[in-house]
Parts: sequence; C-alpha cells; structure tokens
Amino acid sequence: MAKAIRFHKTGGPEVLELETVEVGEPGPGQARVRHTYVAVNFIDIYFRTGRYPLALPEGVGSGLGSDAVGVVEAVGTGVTDIKPGDRVGYLLGPQGAYSDVRVMPAEVLIPLPDGVSDRTASTLMMKGVTAQYLFRQVYPLHGGETILYHAAAGGVGLVACQWARALGVTMIGTVSTDEKAAIAKAHGCAHTIVTSREDIAKRVRAITGGKGVPVVYDSVGKDTLMASLDSLQVRGTLVSNGTTSGPVVIDSTLLAMKGSLWLTRPAMIHYATPRSHMLAMADELFAHVLAGRISGEPKQSFALADVAEAHRALESRRTTGATVLVP
Ligand SMILES: NC(=O)c1ccc[n+]([C@@H]2O[C@H](COP(=O)([O-])OP(=O)(O)OC[C@H]3O[C@@H](n4cnc5c(N)ncnc54)[C@H](OP(=O)(O)O)[C@@H]3O)[C@@H](O)[C@H]2O)c1
Repeated sequence: MAKAIRFHKTGGPEVLELETVEVGEPGPGQARVRHTYVAVNFIDIYFRTGRYPLALPEGVGSGLGSDAVGVVEAVGTGVTDIKPGDRVGYLLGPQGAYSDVRVMPAEVLIPLPDGVSDRTASTLMMKGVTAQYLFRQVYPLHGGETILYHAAAGGVGLVACQWARALGVTMIGTVSTDEKAAIAKAHGCAHTIVTSREDIAKRVRAITGGKGVPVVYDSVGKDTLMASLDSLQVRGTLVSNGTTSGPVVIDSTLLAMKGSLWLTRPAMIHYATPRSHMLAMADELFAHVLAGRISGEPKQSFALADVAEAHRALESRRTTGATVLVP
C-alpha cells in the first residue's frame, strides 16, 4: 500500500487529500519507485485549480505532481536501462508524484549521478531541466547577453540565476520584495527589480543604456506582459514560459508595434522528448552541479500530509527557491 495525495474535484488547496492506495508490481515498461523527496511546482497548482485540465473520473479522481527523486524497487519486463537499487529522478510522466511509492513508466526516469544527493536533485529535476531548455534551447544564450528574467527568486528562478552566471550572462531579475532580491543576487542575478515599487521597463532601459534586452523569460504572464514587451530590443524575443499571474492574451499587432518582436510559448514535453533529449538535458545540468557552478537545497520542506500548506505558501508568494514534500 502507498500513501498518496489525490483530488476528486478542482479547487483550492483543501481539495488535496491523503489516501491509502494499492501499489502493485510494475508491468511491462514500468518501474516501482520509492520517493525520498517530492518536488512541488507551480504547474501542480494549474492542475489542482483546473487551469490545466485533468481527467477526474467519479470515485477515482487523480494523483498530482510530476517531479520527484527516489530509489527503484522493482522493474517490469522490457526495462533494460534502469534496475532495482538505482537512484533516479523524474520531471515528466503521469500525475502522481505526491506519494511515498508509485509504479510509473520507466522511460521517464533519469539516473542520478554519484555526487548529486537526492536532496539536491529534488530541487533540480523540473526546475533545472527547465532552466536548461530555456537558456540552451528555446532562446540559446552564449554569454555576454543581458536578459530579463521574471520571478528570479522562485524555484526555477534560483537555478536560472546560477545558470546565467555560469554562462557569463548578465541577468536582470524581477522579485516582489527586497528579501527576495538579496536571495536572487546571492545566486548570481546581477541586477534586481523590486516589482512592488519599481517600473520594470524603465529600470531595464536604464540598466541597458536605453537599448533594452534581446530576450525576456516571462513565467508570470498576465501581470508582466506589457512590461516584458516594453523591455525588449527591436526584434527581441519574449519567451512566455508560464502564467503564474494569469493567462497571456495578446493581439499580434502589438508585436509589430513594439518592434517586430518574436513570441514563443514553449512546453517542456516538446523539448525533452524523445528520452535521449531528456537525458542530454539532465547531463548538462548535472555537469554544472558536479563542477560546483549550480547547487540546490530545498528552501521549504513539508510532510506529504501537509501538502495543502505547501500549495498555500507557493501560491501566496511566500516561498523562495524550491519547495519539497518529504514522504
Ligand atoms: N514552460 C515550462 O516548461 C515550464 C516548466 C517549469 C516551470 N514553468 C513555469 O515557471 C514558473 C515558475 O515555476 P516555479 O514552480 O519555480 O514557481 P516559483 O517561481 O517558485 O513561484 C512563482 C513566483 O512567481 C511570482 N509571482 C508573480 N506573480 C504572482 C502571482 N500572481 N501569484 C503567485 N506568484 C506570482 C512570485 O515571485 P515574486 O513574489 O518574487 O514575484 C512567486 O514566488 C511557473 O509559471 C511555471 O508554470 C514552466
């Protein structure tokens, strides 16, 4: 039997319930993984609230979460590159990571290298691989650029600060408080803009000598859209990689008026599949970790049963860096 968080209707954090569920033997292509840490991500809130649709069959409901680390207990037939005893992490796959043990597709499991602890890996699977694809694939950075990055003290944000520093990129990061600004700077963010009292685009123009930035990575969405467009150089790129404050609705004419801008809305699945791509992305991340250029420690830890509190903290902007559940 397993302890798992499940929900039967969309809504606030209170819809998340701790249940006891059957966990059988893994079938063909599957593995049973016992979690050491489960990561909480903002996307989990989109699923919980129904912003991203998820099937909730009557009487069955759904698990939640897609990001965890742990140890493989057993594998089914046809699984050749993962074996019992392996330390693994994952960031893709069916919902259900909020649990102590689960059976899942083996093809999404990423072996963890010696030298990267479970605790560190728990802060980096989704968040670090996201930083990899944003900075190395969606709008590749080569070093020397000045970029605008929103929510720089967040879970993905603190990895992005470190990755930018490692690449020799000058990051301008937005944050809502001075405390978050200090944390982002300590992780490598060169300039911070405190959104509660500063005009984002004006500060970006001031920092860049009026030029603007070639790229904005905007996971906040609705509330920052206009500031992001106003911070870009002519023919700059807006990478709209999240909608924390609400969905982005845009008239494409605006892109012309603001300087023939480019807009992309990337989703991890289209960059991290097939499996070889996902493993290469994780390899690049782990190389930075093993070389000491990127590190991660959970900033907030909650018991699995206290998941609602974890969601409340993340939603109300009370967190910095990574939030984990300890099963
Ligand atoms: N496209 C992809 O493949 C992909 C993959 C992973 C994550 N993401 C996206 O990246 C973003 C960051 O994810 P995360 O898990 O690391 O979360 P997070 O950044 O730790 O938390 C969200 C942060 O957004 C800021 N924020 C601004 N307006 C907000 C609002 N109205 N409500 C709540 N927070 C607000 C807050 O920072 P301040 O208080 O400093 O403003 C908050 O701490 C999310 O939008 C997520 O969906 C996208």
